[in-house]
Amino acid sequence: MNIVSDIQQWREIRRSLKGSVGFVPTMGHLHEGHASLCTRADAENDIVAASIFVNPTQFNQPSDFEQYQRTLEADCRLLESLGVDYVFCPSKEDMYPDGYEVQVSETKIAGELEGEFRPGHFTGMLTVVLKLLNLAQADRAYFGEKDFQQLLLVKKMAAALFLPVEIVACATVRAENGLALSSRNARLDAGQRRKAAELAQLLMSDLSDDEVKKQLELLGFRPEYVATRWGRRLGAAWLDKVRLIDNVPFVERNQKNAAVS
Ligand code: PAJ
Repeated sequence: MNIVSDIQQWREIRRSLKGSVGFVPTMGHLHEGHASLCTRADAENDIVAASIFVNPTQFNQPSDFEQYQRTLEADCRLLESLGVDYVFCPSKEDMYPDGYEVQVSETKIAGELEGEFRPGHFTGMLTVVLKLLNLAQADRAYFGEKDFQQLLLVKKMAAALFLPVEIVACATVRAENGLALSSRNARLDAGQRRKAAELAQLLMSDLSDDEVKKQLELLGFRPEYVATRWGRRLGAAWLDKVRLIDNVPFVERNQKNAAVS
């Protein structure tokens, strides 16, 4: 596996590659959720490239950006074991030669739900994803349903800007207790992890959005939103100092309800 941090070097490598390329953009501190994207990319393409870049422009708090765990060595070991051929890990100076004066924004759904509580987050995300997609020149790029609004926005950008890449959606990988895997879960202790799983369970329940929000409050979460949109129920809530997000499709809710009744 080749680890490339220099943009120029990556572009030369990219020009030399023959066959289909699958691309998996990440911010590192990888887990089984990221791994599932790489495994799928490996099954569907001749070559797999992943990127690890903790993108400063999509963080709302500088402290959250600084605290974001950097585990490059362990990440590279995992990626290599998954059949990834190239890891691209550029510096923030190289990724933002314009000082973030050029930005990509969406004007309809980027201000809702996540966007309401994380102003500017989706503009930072879309901007970096466009840069990464332009560098990767991939046939397919893989994104998780875990970040459902992000996935919708990336798909919308790819269609609106005629990007020659297929955006592939991958199902959310969960722990046995239902908790959606996330790099931020590492900041939860065992008790908090058990409690965090209630978010997924409540999103899948029969309760109304408002009732789910109330239940979360009773359990000690600080919910930001619980909303039904795009055939899903989405929610975000703080558990102590960790912000959790999750979403479930209606089918899953119905199946669960069928199993219970
Ligand atoms: P990051 O949080 O590292 O996630 C990288 C990719 O892994 C995203 O597409 C995300 O949806 C997916 N992912 C995370 N947890 C998952 C899970 N439990 N199951 C399935 N997929 C999961 O999302 C980002 O980075 C950034 O916003 C990025 C797109 C890299 C742009 O900076």
